[in-house]
This record gives sequence, structure tokens and C-alpha cells, in this order.
Amino acid sequence: MYRIAVAKGDGIGPEIMDAVLKIFDAAKIPLQYDIVDMGKWVFDKGYSNGMTPEAQETIESVGILFKGPMETPKGKGVKSVNVTARKTWNTYANKRTFQTLHGVDTVFSKAGIPIDITIVRENIEDTYGGIEHMLTHDVALCRRFITRPGSYQVIKYAFEMAKKNGAKRITCGHKSNIMKLTDGLFLEVFYEVAKDYPELRVDDVIVDDLCMKLVTKPDLFDVVVLTNLQGDIVSDLCAGLVGGLGFAPSANIGDHISIFEAVHGTAPDITGKNMANPTALLLSGIGMIRHLGMMETSAMIENALLYTLESGVHTGDFGDKNTPSLGTIEFADAVIANFGKEPAHNPKPKIADKYVTPTLFKLEQNAMMESFGEEEESIVGVDFFIESNLQPNEVADKSIEHTLDLFKLVTISNRGTQVWPKGSVFTNLVSQYACRFESIGDAPLTQIDILELTKRMMKDFKICSYELLNKWGDKKAYSLAQGQ
Ligand code: NAI
Repeated sequence: MYRIAVAKGDGIGPEIMDAVLKIFDAAKIPLQYDIVDMGKWVFDKGYSNGMTPEAQETIESVGILFKGPMETPKGKGVKSVNVTARKTWNTYANKRTFQTLHGVDTVFSKAGIPIDITIVRENIEDTYGGIEHMLTHDVALCRRFITRPGSYQVIKYAFEMAKKNGAKRITCGHKSNIMKLTDGLFLEVFYEVAKDYPELRVDDVIVDDLCMKLVTKPDLFDVVVLTNLQGDIVSDLCAGLVGGLGFAPSANIGDHISIFEAVHGTAPDITGKNMANPTALLLSGIGMIRHLGMMETSAMIENALLYTLESGVHTGDFGDKNTPSLGTIEFADAVIANFGKEPAHNPKPKIADKYVTPTLFKLEQNAMMESFGEEEESIVGVDFFIESNLQPNEVADKSIEHTLDLFKLVTISNRGTQVWPKGSVFTNLVSQYACRFESIGDAPLTQIDILELTKRMMKDFKICSYELLNKWGDKKAYSLAQGQ
């Protein structure tokens, strides 16, 4: 018997969760549910993270959370409980599987193009750190962190999952042609990990091209792994390919705790009307019991669901409008009545149960803090982000006065485009420049040298932010400005 924590959620959450648990109970799944308090009313009671301490303790002791959608109160300055949960428990891989569901009409199902795509999205890093600053009244900055160990965790998970599920192809979606260091690092780790999986066809696609290919030839893709924001967008695109969010399950996988939920929200417009479609949450629950190793039972329930959809049974949000729709619980009853039946399309194979303790990719204690860079590190310059409404030449003249005999001013850019020493009069300027100073002859600098330069530059400019220019051996650890 597995213990799992269940948070029913807000809005339609309790309705769809009750429907799914009814199906699980009918299938006699060996699960014991610990119902925990999370969501809107918990915020309203004054718990700023949206969960009671008891809920947190239970989830941390059982390691699996099955949750309904939850509402984050607006205008109270509290963070989304969904995002808090994913981050607090380091569920670094978000896995969403999208498959053609016969009975759910889409452009592709009508054209007979089968879809079976799994998107693995990094779930912690990227712009989702939410580290943002207004540098000036007109300029906002969001920091985007992509780390080697963070990328490794999610990519390793994606490869292991692809291998376990017999996938043929694994693709990395990225934008490393533009973001050579951040997306470039993610892609580099992808190909490093790929060396251990010669049985898989491995490739990469630039994310805009990936979107185009997904909507024209979705059947070409199998497993796709992406960074957080790109993965967020691409996974919703894939939900659209198979019929919308009502059919999009999601698993947030971590070393200790994993969270299974539907992608959609609390649907306040249909709450309490017994109209909600429980399919996405059911598919998430099927993923959860498969994650726990209940292969045979998960296949049995999924086959019953596929059979139900194939036979035209539907809730109000999809299906043939000429046939009456079922309510949430009646839909669950229809699935239960179809236990043991096989769908005509894509029946799930019956594989023997192999119960697992899900602690698969645990990095060693503090391993994420160890760096394996072997090249010698040196500081060779600095980028100052300054506020100024002077023209580039004037900024340059003032900056050059401060270079001492240690630094040279090499470039000034505005929104990433070089405007000095060369530029175009057609480049639009905002009142913020990046002035790049490098050491003369690339001589190594100390942080004190940078501080001295900072103090001198401050006499003329407000320095909003600065970044060191590092070199690892001969390699520059920073990007060049457009046109530099
Ligand atoms: P939503 O997904 O709740 O609703 C969008 C539309 O889809 C609505 O018309 C709704 O009726 C329909 N819909 C959604 N799920 C359905 C289902 N199972 N069956 C039938 N129709 C369904 O998105 P919305 O309106 O933007 O967000 C509502 C609330 O949900 C917000 O408070 C938001 O913060 C929260 N939310 C929570 C999520 C989570 O807990 N993971 C994810 C997304 C939103």
C-alpha cells in the first residue's frame, strides 16, 4: 500500500478529484490517501505559502502529491502555491505527455496523423527565478539563470525516461543561436548526457523552428526537452494539438517529492455544476500510478478511458454536440463500466507491475555546488550598465577619462546593440547603456581594480548594475554586443 498526499484544490478541483479517486477505488489501487490542506482558503486563513504546516509535513513524509488546480488570491502579494510547491520540493522536471485521443476531434485526428509527444521542461531555473529589477524608470531587467547541474538533472531524467519508455528519438529545443551562453550551456549538457544513450536518436531544433514543425509534422517528434519558459510555451502548444488543456496531464518530478496535476486551472465559470472534464486529472493520476510502478493497473485504466472516449462519451467541453454530454461523476462511472475493455486505437500494453521507490536521480550531497571547470579563471574586464541620456560619443568621452592605465573602453551598447565605437544613427536609444571595459592586453584584473574603476565612473554616471567579464582559460565567458 502506497501512501500519497491528495490536495483536492479549488474551483472544479474537488469535483474532478472525487471523480478520479472514484475510478481509482473501483480499480482497487493499493493507495492510501492523506488529504492535505492547500489552496485558496488556506491563503485566506493566513498561511502565506498556501499550505498548512501539517500539509507540508505530510507531503514531505510521503513523497507524492496528487493535486487539483488551485487559485492564488489576486492583489495580496502572495505567490502561486503551484509554483511554490514545485520550487520548494525541487521538482526539476515537468513532464507532459500528449497523445491522440480518438473521440476528441482535432485537426490532426481528422487527418489521421497520430500524435504521441512527451515534453520534458526544466521546472526551476530560467526566468522563473523571478529575479527582476527596474534599473531605471524605463528599463526592466530579468535575470535568466541556466546552470550546469540544473540542466543535467532534467536532461538526465529526460533520457532515462525516454529509454525506459522505449522512445526512438529525443530532441533538445533551444535558442542557442541567440543565447549562446545560457541555451548554449543547456545544449552542451544535452549532448554530454546523450553519449550514454547510443540507442536513442538524438538531435536538436531551434525552438521557433520546433514550433513550426510541431504544428505541421507533430508525428515526427517523440521526447522533447527544453528550458523552462520555452518548455512552458511549447507544452501548451502541444496541448492544443491534442484537443486543449482538458486533455493535458502533467507530472513534476523531483528526487524526493513528485507532484501530479492537470495543466488547466480551477475553471471558476463551471465550478459546482458537475460539468468539468476529469480527463486531464485522470491522465495525471494514471501517470502517477505508472511512476509508482503499477504498470498493469495504469494500462487497464487508460485503456478504459481511451475506449470511453472512442465510443463518443463526452463531457460538455468536447465531443459531438448532437449527443448529450455527461456530468463529471457520470463520465467517471462510464470509465469504470469500461474496465477490461481495449480501445481500437493505441491500446496500452499490459506490462507487469514493478513497484518502485522513486529516488532515481539524486545528486550527491551538495554536488550541485561543485564546479568541474578545470580551466584557469581570470577577470579581464567589466560591463557597467549605466543610466544616461547623453549621446554615445559623449558617454564614451566621459568613460575614457576613467580608464586609468589598466583599462580600455572597448564598446558601448544600448539594448544589446553596439552604438560605439561604430554604430548606426538609425539605432533607437533608451537612457541606459552598457559600457564594456577590458584590461589592456587581457592582463588579469582583481576585484579591487574593478572597484576603483566603479568609483571613478560613479562620478559621472549612475551605475545601475555591473557584470564581471571572466575568462576560463582562453575562452571568453561573456557574449559580444550585436555588431561588436
Ligand atoms: P482555467 O484552465 O481554469 O480555465 C480556462 C477555460 O477552460 C475555462 O473556460 C474553463 O471552464 C475551461 N476548463 C478548464 N478546465 C476544464 C475542465 N477540466 N473541464 C472543462 N472545462 C475546463 O484557466 P483560468 O480561467 O485562466 O484560471 C482560473 C484559475 O485557475 C486562476 O485562479 C488561476 O490562477 C488558476 N490556475 C491554476 C493552475 C494550477 O493549479 N495548476 C493552472 C492554471 C490556472
